[in-house]
Amino acid sequence: MEKDVDIAWKEIDTIVDKYEGSNEALLMIMQDISDIYNYVPPDVVPYLAERLGVKKSQVYGVATFYKTISLEPRGKYIINVCTGTACHVRGAEKIMDALEERLDIKEGETTEDKLFSLEAVRCIGCCASGPVITVNQETHGGLDRSNVIQILEEYKQDA
Ligand code: FES
Repeated sequence: MEKDVDIAWKEIDTIVDKYEGSNEALLMIMQDISDIYNYVPPDVVPYLAERLGVKKSQVYGVATFYKTISLEPRGKYIINVCTGTACHVRGAEKIMDALEERLDIKEGETTEDKLFSLEAVRCIGCCASGPVITVNQETHGGLDRSNVIQILEEYKQDA
């Protein structure tokens, strides 16, 4: 596992305080931390467990269950390729292949420069525009091998 980033503990405290230290807010707290670091640094796990009065296994459980939470560093841009039925029929596999080739990573991996992470997801509810991907909060549809690479380049330039 890679070394954790420098954690701004004050910021973590502020997030936990925002939810009044409620253990029911565990998922939201982890999501907020994830929004800052793009993942939940593993060093934060025991701290959250202590502050929220839950078991560490519960914190790990949330990270394992929810795809939006990761304990591994992820890229600045998280590319989710929809592999639901409608997108599959419309060529999602080609989109994934093109992205894997261009980024030189496999699904589930992050580029060395930590710019992109590539993941497969189930239907995201835009079937009519398939095949679709999301990049962080933005959705892109009507993709083929060439326009998806063009989209990728645009994110690279913005980075
Ligand atoms: S199957 Fe891809 S958006 Fe529904």
